[in-house]
Amino acid sequence: MTEGHGIRTVGVCGAGTMGAGIAQVCATSGFSVVLYDAFAEVLPKARERIEQDTDRLVQRGRLDPEARAQALQRLQTAETLEALAGCDLVVEAAPEDLNLKKDLFSRLAAVAPHAILATNTSSLSVAELAAVTALPQRVAGLHFFNPAPVMALVEVVRAPQTAPEVVERLVAFARALGKTAIVAKDSPGFVVNRVNRPFYGEGLRVVGEGLADCATVDRAAREAGGFRMGPFELMDLVGIDVGYAVAQSFHQAFAGESRFRPHPLQREMVLSGRLGRKTGRGFYDYTQPAAKPEPLPLPQPHPGPYAVAGSTALARELAGRLRERGFEVVELAGPPDRALHVAAAFEAEVEDRDRKRSLVTALDRHLPEDAALLVACTNAAAGECAGWVQHPERVAGYATLPPLADRKLLEWTAHERTRNDPTPYLAALGLPLLRVGDAPGGVFPRILAALVNEAAFAVGEGVASAPDVDLGMRLGLNHPFGPFAWADRAGVRAVAGVLDGLRDYYGEERYRLAPLLRRARWLGRWPHA
Ligand SMILES: NC(=O)c1ccc[n+]([C@@H]2O[C@H](COP(=O)([O-])OP(=O)(O)OC[C@H]3O[C@@H](n4cnc5c(N)ncnc54)[C@H](O)[C@@H]3O)[C@@H](O)[C@H]2O)c1
Repeated sequence: MTEGHGIRTVGVCGAGTMGAGIAQVCATSGFSVVLYDAFAEVLPKARERIEQDTDRLVQRGRLDPEARAQALQRLQTAETLEALAGCDLVVEAAPEDLNLKKDLFSRLAAVAPHAILATNTSSLSVAELAAVTALPQRVAGLHFFNPAPVMALVEVVRAPQTAPEVVERLVAFARALGKTAIVAKDSPGFVVNRVNRPFYGEGLRVVGEGLADCATVDRAAREAGGFRMGPFELMDLVGIDVGYAVAQSFHQAFAGESRFRPHPLQREMVLSGRLGRKTGRGFYDYTQPAAKPEPLPLPQPHPGPYAVAGSTALARELAGRLRERGFEVVELAGPPDRALHVAAAFEAEVEDRDRKRSLVTALDRHLPEDAALLVACTNAAAGECAGWVQHPERVAGYATLPPLADRKLLEWTAHERTRNDPTPYLAALGLPLLRVGDAPGGVFPRILAALVNEAAFAVGEGVASAPDVDLGMRLGLNHPFGPFAWADRAGVRAVAGVLDGLRDYYGEERYRLAPLLRRARWLGRWPHA
């Protein structure tokens, strides 16, 4: 059991939500545990919670009754910090308060001079905690996710002072708990919480600009993206006040970087006391029975024929899908040079905006007067594309990224001058249609591109390796894919294209490409792959 980590006895400091969970998983994994809390009355409650939780595990056949009894025997509670003296590792899970933790670390360093001291902090600097101890090289972060006994991921956080041997031992220890460990540099939010910022940030912007309501964003996230929950459902669950405080702390920690700017909507919700589920009202109203989402429309498709234009994977996929569904398809890798006898054309140049413009204008010139022109507004607003052509009234947009097999709906949009109903043509793809406002990237492509970009910034800054970021986002947040693997599925150039579109549309630095994503675009793949 001590292989590689040399740990037998674990001290846990703070017996709240996280401390009790961490103590439980250590005890059931065979470690002796001393669980300490500054408030003695918390301890019996923590033990009771652990007893109940492990009892449920036994009932579900996940834990042997004998193993449970032994685990509970290995767990002792303590009312004084001095009881942690004999521990090989102390995991601190006290409240997220820098001064409180600093005080604890200076005392812990004296009480347990040979132990590794690890903090479960989500947002504080591990280096700053290490600095108050006599031996900062044995201080690191050990970031569990809630609920600790269930979540498979642990981030091992390396401060500048942390000895490499301590990182290795903590990785081995996390494995002994049955967890997957990723190593992260001590930096704001480490890997998972940082890389996930745009999930909320872009959702908030889409709603704040009136491009879609919360339910539409959540639906796009779930059904186009495959996320378990949408950003607004999650913000309501976590608490909008908590989310706002986290957003503010990121913005400050990154010296006002625009990618981390909190959204005014968060402030408004907090000021009005709509904090989410816990107050009965957040982005959704929990005092009323939840409204069942309406089924999305899938109109009778127009019989075609269709043109699909573009030299991208999306174009090839659209053409294949239309053919499979029995429609006649004219495929064009580039701009047409003669008349097209089709009912509608799908433009799918999602990688390069210059090529897109020549393609869209040539399509408009060569389509019959009454044909629809469906532009991929993945990398440009439909209204912008309409501004390039002679017949803007025929232009509407759809926003998606390959592979279409991953999508349970198609986001589409119209602009101020769209006159003809595009839905019978879009319906030819056989996906239910979700209408969103007109801006580049719709909802899901925009969220995904921003997540990938943040992951690329984090890796470029040495926060973690790309494979560890992917593991972290899957195991820590249940994302269907890690951002790097996800960008590979969608195509790194298409993902970069969404950000180009957003940067051009908003003129904001927030959407500038991370250097690593820029390099990936040049190569057509990630440099590390
Ligand atoms: N809750 C989460 O989802 C989550 C997830 C990952 C990390 N974290 C981090 O874990 C840490 C603990 O969070 P939590 O949610 O378990 O908090 P909590 O409030 O549930 O528990 C904190 C416990 O610490 C005790 N305590 C207070 N002062 C103390 C002191 N001086 N010494 C020892 N114990 C003291 C409290 O009595 C309480 O039992 C925080 O740093 C938090 O950021 C929380």
